[in-house]
Amino acid sequence: MKLSATVFVVAIISWAVNSAVSIRFPDRISEDSNGSADHPLRTAVFALGSFWRSEAAFGCLDGVVRTTAGYAGGSRPNPEYRSLGDHAECVQIEYDPRIISFRELLDVFWASHDCRQVFGQGPDVGNQYRSIIFTNGTEESRLAALSKEREQTRSKSSVVTTQIQQLGTFYPAEPEHQKFELRRNPLLLQLIGNLPEEELEKSSLATKLNGYAAELCPPKIQRQIDAKINDITRKGWPILREI
Ligand SMILES: *[C@@H]1O[C@H](CO)[C@@H](O)[C@H](O)[C@H]1NC(C)=O
Ligand SMILES: *[C@@H]1O[C@H](CO)[C@@H](O)[C@H](O)[C@H]1NC(C)=O
Repeated sequence: MKLSATVFVVAIISWAVNSAVSIRFPDRISEDSNGSADHPLRTAVFALGSFWRSEAAFGCLDGVVRTTAGYAGGSRPNPEYRSLGDHAECVQIEYDPRIISFRELLDVFWASHDCRQVFGQGPDVGNQYRSIIFTNGTEESRLAALSKEREQTRSKSSVVTTQIQQLGTFYPAEPEHQKFELRRNPLLLQLIGNLPEEELEKSSLATKLNGYAAELCPPKIQRQIDAKINDITRKGWPILREI
């Protein structure tokens, strides 16, 4: 058992090293996964419907280091899934501003949901699915307001319901809601070595594969990962048949 886990890890590392999409094994990305003093990571929070999908919508973007599903925008202390009070389901995105900007994240935000549906996304109806851009500081508020105006000018037949709010407390959701799309995919979980809970939540690789599992990666990356996984499964790996 121990040995097979080691073989897993070794193979995954070589997979990651060879990978054209530069998926990296979480243990190998200590320094840059948290930024550095010179180049700190930044954080953005958006509400755009179910946080399962929201997390996946941002997870595969270049420059996004980590995503977390959670609750924000309301007043109830310590919200939980079954009692979130007036909060909205949200995704918190940790990103490297040298690679992706708040503006680009806003573009993905608009492209990833229907901002004109009132209090809901598709079949998910309710206050918890409302659309919100959370901002930290005047520059982000300005960019958010501009992008909302631009979105509104696309069509005047309905109103953009998105709110722009100063970010207060972000409450991470319960573990079973983190990387939800990836969690539903046993093959992918196995391929990354069945990470323990805490690592799964913090891992950049899991963040990326969560987007892949939901088929929300940019098409080129989606195809690259597909090919990599097909290659591994065709070779009969990683199922260990003998020691
Ligand atoms: C990165 O940050 C996470 C949580 O913010 C922490 O648990 C982890 O130890 C940090 N890793 C490094 C290498 O500093
Ligand atoms: C707001 O941004 C500043 C740096 O620009 C950062 O130190 C602070 O943690 C951010 N606040 C939140 C709630 O993300």
